[in-house]
Amino acid sequence: MMKRQQHHRVLLCLALLLLSTGCKKKEVSARPIGAEVHIQPLLGLPPVPIPKDNPPTADTIALGRRLFYDKRVSVDNTLSCASCHDPRDYFTDGKNVSTGVRGALGTRNAPTILNAAYLPFQFWDGRAITLEEQAAFPIANPVEMSQPHAADVSKLGDDPEYRALFKKAFGTEDVNIARVEAALASFERTALTGNSPFDQYQFGGNKNALTPAQLRGYGVFLNPNGGNCASCHTIAPQGALFTDGKFHNIGEGVNDDGDFSDIGRFHETKVATDKGAFKTPTLRNVAKTAPYMHNGRLKTLKEVIDFYAGQGNSNQYLDPEMKKIHMTGQDRTDLLEFLNALTGDVTPNLGPPSNSK
Ligand code: HEC
Ligand code: HEC
Repeated sequence: MMKRQQHHRVLLCLALLLLSTGCKKKEVSARPIGAEVHIQPLLGLPPVPIPKDNPPTADTIALGRRLFYDKRVSVDNTLSCASCHDPRDYFTDGKNVSTGVRGALGTRNAPTILNAAYLPFQFWDGRAITLEEQAAFPIANPVEMSQPHAADVSKLGDDPEYRALFKKAFGTEDVNIARVEAALASFERTALTGNSPFDQYQFGGNKNALTPAQLRGYGVFLNPNGGNCASCHTIAPQGALFTDGKFHNIGEGVNDDGDFSDIGRFHETKVATDKGAFKTPTLRNVAKTAPYMHNGRLKTLKEVIDFYAGQGNSNQYLDPEMKKIHMTGQDRTDLLEFLNALTGDVTPNLGPPSNSK
């Protein structure tokens, strides 16, 4: 009897102890506290998908913008997100593959962050789904910013200005990685591009927005027996992203033995047919974002078009849509003109914030 009571008391004490320690470690929410801001898409774009748990607010967008340009996010304070996603280059870096901290060479070409808000997968191989999830990768990647997350957060948390901005955005001064990700993602959701001559023609009702050569090139782009480009670089009635968000093997980066220098999507899925498959990139502003492909191997759009005219590079997993196409010399120059019509406007307020360090 006595023994049993003691036993109960011990259990009770244990329960209380667990409860109290549980209470001391209070949950820090990464949910924004301000009013949700509506993000207005540009002509030619569908509505911006917004996650339920991270509605963009004026304060999280402003904080994300500041973080995007802050070199303290990298281990040796030399790189910001904008070092590789430069607003002057439509948020790319113009290099074949990116260079990280201490000159470390990456293996892939930096895609733009413009319209990344619409993508069902992030990265060439889709290893992140959301923009929130994506942001954590470059910060910790040893060949990018190489910053352990704990160190990163404490560095920012040492700055009283940041603590105040986190408080404004999330309700308390706590600086943690989930909040950094939420703010960066909200800023990126405002980074859109549209209203190109193509959009004015297609969605704005201006039938003179494209030149005759561009119009002919548009026909080549759409024609399944011509360029067949739109089967992967899609145009939908509610908006044109010029990507289906899926992974295809077009034979880029394959050697003479049919081996790939980068296995791409296979890395994530381990499905053999995904070997050498990469996410279809957008073609918006493509005339301004050379070099091309996941490895930056092709220097000009002419080279890209000639690559497709040759039906990509042969290998056993080549996408069935990489079929034999018929493009005359005229078709190819027209197609090039059409790609030039995809250069559009970029949403305002994306540059470095005026007082960023
Ligand atoms: C050292 C250069 C570098 C830095 C710094 C960098 N990135 Fe990137 N970023 C890249 C490269 C290269 C890729 C493609 C990598 C891959 O697919 O494997 C990429 C991919 C992305 C993507 C995916 C886009 C798409 O179409 O799939 C987003 C979004 C992005 N970066 C945002 C950021 C943010 C936010 C930061 C700062 C926290 C950042 N990047 C820092 C080079 C960089
Ligand atoms: C089977 C799907 C598919 C078809 C068809 C297709 N593409 Fe692509 N495109 C892709 C994929 C996937 C990539 C990225 C491949 C890689 O990097 O390995 C790509 C890359 C590109 C790039 C490089 C963009 C950048 O930012 O690096 C351009 C330009 C391009 N395609 C234009 C075209 C044109 C023009 C056509 C028609 C002649 C076409 N594509 C047909 C799937 C396709």
